Amino acid sequence: MAQDDLKRAVAKAAIAYVPDDCIVGVGTGSTANFFIDELAKIKHKVRGAVASSEASAKRLKGHGIEVLSLNEAGDLPVYVDGADEITRHMHMIKGGGGALTREKIVAAASKKFICVCDASKLVDVLGKFPLPIEVIPMARSYVARQLVALGGQPELREGFTTDNGNVILDVHGLQIMNPVELESTLDHIAGVVTNGLFARRAADVLLLGTPEGVKTMTA
Ligand code: 5RP
Repeated sequence: MAQDDLKRAVAKAAIAYVPDDCIVGVGTGSTANFFIDELAKIKHKVRGAVASSEASAKRLKGHGIEVLSLNEAGDLPVYVDGADEITRHMHMIKGGGGALTREKIVAAASKKFICVCDASKLVDVLGKFPLPIEVIPMARSYVARQLVALGGQPELREGFTTDNGNVILDVHGLQIMNPVELESTLDHIAGVVTNGLFARRAADVLLLGTPEGVKTMTA
């Protein structure tokens, strides 16, 4: 079964978690795009969406779904998004698409985080996928030195600027045994806006696309 079919299947399954008449939090990336396309089929049942990126906002609007700011919407019942890696404890690496800061904010404001992934994203230990870190441009070299001191090999994502006007350092070579602790440590480096560890606010439900069907997992 092709990876896109698995992504489409989990996106479809996530619709069951969207309550009637709600404002839904929407993530970023190819799996989130499939979810947006599924959401369009029930758009008459929802009030609108809060998007975690300009790209997702554009796709939502293209389907005629109203996009609200998080400030207008307040707390959300549900946030649906993909991940680059996820463990059985529901800890994730996110930010492959560079939208990690807005994703973390919308996830924080949501009661339930539904993570939608194909089976390749499930791992025992986080860190094979380079950890994205959004950084204020003037702090880039300073932050990179701190990341080297922590044992990582940071690499600037060339030619990429986030929706917030910042740069991304992708950190290679980490074996993340304690994601909750590392998430806090990274957040305390001056110049770091957000790191791509989603461990303190982990997913509540993982919908995992496998060739045998969609598996539902919780921590
Ligand atoms: C974007 C993200 C995405 O959720 C993550 O990169 C997964 O993307 P995809 O569904 O395309 O595999 O964190 O910043």
